[in-house]
Amino acid sequence: MFYKGKTVWITGASSGIGEALSRAFYNEGANLILSSRREEVLQEVKSTLGADDDRIFVLPLDLTQSDTFAEKTREALEHFGQIDVLVNNGGISQRSTVLESELSVIRRLMEINYFGSVGLTKEVLPHMVSRGSGHIIVTSSVAGKIGTKFRSGYAGSKHAVQGFFNSLRQEMYEHNVDVTLLCPGFIKTNISKNALTGDGTNFGKMGDAHSKAMTADEMVDKVMPKIKKAKEEIIITGFKEGLAIWVQRLSPTLLNKILKNTKVT
Ligand SMILES: NC(=O)c1ccc[n+]([C@@H]2O[C@H](COP(=O)([O-])OP(=O)(O)OC[C@H]3O[C@@H](n4cnc5c(N)ncnc54)[C@H](OP(=O)(O)O)[C@@H]3O)[C@@H](O)[C@H]2O)c1
Repeated sequence: MFYKGKTVWITGASSGIGEALSRAFYNEGANLILSSRREEVLQEVKSTLGADDDRIFVLPLDLTQSDTFAEKTREALEHFGQIDVLVNNGGISQRSTVLESELSVIRRLMEINYFGSVGLTKEVLPHMVSRGSGHIIVTSSVAGKIGTKFRSGYAGSKHAVQGFFNSLRQEMYEHNVDVTLLCPGFIKTNISKNALTGDGTNFGKMGDAHSKAMTADEMVDKVMPKIKKAKEEIIITGFKEGLAIWVQRLSPTLLNKILKNTKVT
């Protein structure tokens, strides 16, 4: 019951990693604010957690609609009176080369993955600073560290996330607000089915690497102890992506040579 009496606001709570995080925080005693676009699916998530009206508040929001974030934050604060942890997790991926991607698709990835997280954080931050405590978590990715084929817009958005939240952490030390970058490798969720292709339609298929990867619940079991310690960065990967991060540290040139000849799905 580490989070008993604390309020945790999670975006992307209707599926995959966000749903698994919601379960884990709930089981640790937290009050939850569950957000994403699909209200009916968020209600189902709430039901699977026991339809606990006292501890779960469904607050639908679209991460592309930054002009609604101030009002959504007001509603969240009005409901539970405080936000102790904000988990910026909602996001989408990509399956298209630069040549075949419309600029609007690359902008959409940036709008959801980067400006969605940045915008919501900017609304919640003054509240945390005024209380002198808080924890901002953002689901980045190994793609926030390494660029690969078919992920230009996605990797761009996640690299931007890394830069913004690493800078924010520096500014927040004096305010006692922690910032955690969560960097998963492949996790078995709907991320590849929902990924955008070059014309903005959904990819619609489960990628090979994702279908063989650990589940979101397995991932969350592993990262939760580190989240509780508010670690600055949590990298959680399978063997190949973990190795890629090590090779990049040793020699980015070597990693590029390897990736050039690697099948990326
Ligand atoms: N799975 C992986 O291999 C992996 C690896 C590294 C990082 N990640 C990151 O993990 C996060 C969660 O992804 P996932 O793997 O759990 O994928 P997922 O199962 O597809 O879940 C994505 C979540 O984001 C929400 N979302 C998408 N567009 C949104 C929008 N415009 N406004 C509000 N919410 C939106 C979706 O809810 P609605 O459809 O209801 O809006 C859903 O809850 C993402 O940031 C992703 O980049 C995933």
